[in-house]
Amino acid sequence: MRLADARRDQYRRLAKDQGFRARSAYKLLQINNSYHILRKGGKVVDLGCAPGGWLQVATKEVGGNGRVAGIDLKEVEPVAGATVIQGSIEDPNVAGKMIEILGGKADVILSDIAPNVSGVWDVDHARQISLTENALFLAQKVLREGGSAVFKVFEGDMLNDFRAELKKSFGKVLLSKPTASRQESSELYMVCSGFKPQQISG
Ligand SMILES: C[S@@+](CC[C@H](N)C(=O)[O-])C[C@H]1O[C@@H](n2cnc3c(N)ncnc32)[C@H](O)[C@@H]1O
Repeated sequence: MRLADARRDQYRRLAKDQGFRARSAYKLLQINNSYHILRKGGKVVDLGCAPGGWLQVATKEVGGNGRVAGIDLKEVEPVAGATVIQGSIEDPNVAGKMIEILGGKADVILSDIAPNVSGVWDVDHARQISLTENALFLAQKVLREGGSAVFKVFEGDMLNDFRAELKKSFGKVLLSKPTASRQESSELYMVCSGFKPQQISG
């Protein structure tokens, strides 16, 4: 068995044993272990949250006094402690609904958004960046000053421009490749902190 397959199997088994719905839960756990973005009592938004692995991690980390709101095109089995909207992040009413669910602006925005892959690499990269730009647009409306965000991105030509865009909105932008993310995949996570709300456009 290839090393990459063995690692994928290892995380799939762990997820099953530990009751996580998706292997991807370990990516958020590893990012959080390094950057400590999820705090007790925090308000968290999870964009592209199905099937709910990140929701499980976020609700546990913020605890009973925190609030977690998620959105996905797909239906999500309920996760205790999270409120989920079924819809698109491109819907202009979503920002207001998230703030209402949280009872105020968010401390953290998580985006693990990914489009359906076509297999044509350039097309998938462009679609993923465009979706993630929408996630940033939403974050600019929902995040509190000084808040943090995590955005999944794929390596490619458009990544540097997106990173430059993030730097206008956040004091610090770091790239992270959690070991639970397949090493052969071009997936990376931008971990951003120190949100600057004066950069809101539109
Ligand atoms: C990699 S999965 C997320 C996995 C999730 N973090 C977990 O741990 O269970 C990406 C999700 O993005 C969702 N998605 C794609 N486009 C979307 C959109 N415009 N609005 C909301 N969700 C979207 C997909 O339906 C898919 O469920």
